[in-house]
Amino acid sequence: MDSLLIKGGVPLRGEVMISGSKNSVLPIMAASLLTSEPCIIRRVPNLSDVRFMGQILSWLGAEVRHEKDAVRIQARRIKGCGDYDLVRKMRGSICIMGPLLGRLRKAAVSLPGGCVIGARPINLHLKGFEALGARVTIEAGYVHAAARRLVGSAVFLGGRAGSTVLGTANVMMAATLAEGVTVIESAACEPEVVDLANFLNAMGARITGAGSPTVTITGVKELHGAEHEVIPDRIEAATYAIAAAATNGEVTLRGARADHMHAVLDKLQDCGVRIERSGPDLRVRRGGRLKPVDVTTLPYAGFPTDVQAQMMALMCLAPGISIITERIFESRFMHVSELNRLGADIEIEGPSAIVKGGRPLSGAPVMASDLRASAALVIAGLAARGTTQVNRVYHIDRGYENLDGKLRQLGARIERIEDA
Ligand code: EPZ
Repeated sequence: MDSLLIKGGVPLRGEVMISGSKNSVLPIMAASLLTSEPCIIRRVPNLSDVRFMGQILSWLGAEVRHEKDAVRIQARRIKGCGDYDLVRKMRGSICIMGPLLGRLRKAAVSLPGGCVIGARPINLHLKGFEALGARVTIEAGYVHAAARRLVGSAVFLGGRAGSTVLGTANVMMAATLAEGVTVIESAACEPEVVDLANFLNAMGARITGAGSPTVTITGVKELHGAEHEVIPDRIEAATYAIAAAATNGEVTLRGARADHMHAVLDKLQDCGVRIERSGPDLRVRRGGRLKPVDVTTLPYAGFPTDVQAQMMALMCLAPGISIITERIFESRFMHVSELNRLGADIEIEGPSAIVKGGRPLSGAPVMASDLRASAALVIAGLAARGTTQVNRVYHIDRGYENLDGKLRQLGARIERIEDA
């Protein structure tokens, strides 16, 4: 398994191009299953999760062709079952279920299971499918949904931690080909849901209200092919903004969408980071000493859980006490022990992490555990004195396009060590 070797202490300077959003492109690729016509998706990031979704779609019978930063998908004839080995490896592939149910009136996908950040249940997805008239059964680790007819109805998708992003995506996609009107109450409001709705409408769907808690889908007979450019990745942009602040550098984020990042930019400004907007670009630099801030993760438009770990790394550098509370996932603090190995002083109290910031960090070998925790360790390594080796970098390759290359362009002393 590859690792990243980082010699810290270098302020990041220059500009970085923000790639297309991983969490937008995955459901949009799955949505191409809803039509037998070709779909072309642009600004597709070169990520292992994206390639993996392509493999799953090909396995289902679709023709998938990557062309530079675009992917062409045509699902002329498809089968309705997602293979365990494929779906197990990437939880996000659960979003093939809605399109399969919409197109074929049946879908079988292996139960995705949990991951390091939480149990990751899909009860709300299944509640939505049943509201459309599907019969849902679980056999031998597979979840089956089948319907003679899909009929629109109202469904409440609020769960214990607010709404569900992929649950909203799944129900929205299935409802595009149902008879009648579906109203999703307590829908997820993330920009990625809006991006998916825009793609579905370009395919001929009739969706209104995406981005608000109430989404209305009027079913149509069939959908046609479409072309679509994916929104920039707000989590990647936030990660580079935090890395710039952590290294006392000055970085321009090219092609970021500040309107998708209000909560993150607001918090960064609270802790003393200067943010200047110029068109689609954001200039980020630290304006003096970092100040401690409290952060609670919430559904959009609140502070995103996918930026919690990276923010914690930054707060290790802010003299004083910062309290970071995780309200979306039940165990998303795997990075705490690894940050403490780098000299941080963080204690976990239930859903909160108490960060006593201000002590200088010193490099050490650390272990990546999940995608965003890995990014936090890279950020800490960039700010630490000495050398940090982040192991199990495959986590990073899932969600960050060419992270070490982009950081080197910003002056970071970072290299990838291919495992023998
Ligand atoms: C999406 O996951 C993202 N993944 C996650 O990003 C992100 O952290 C998450 O949304 C929250 O913003 C993709 O889009 C591929 P949820 P998703 O359903 O949709 C509970 C990353 O790092 N819940 O919104 O799977 C669930 O347990 C990844 O890029 C139920 O209770 O997340 C959690 O507590 C990590 N029942 C909360 O809702 C359900 O049926 C939010 O989960 C579904 C979810």
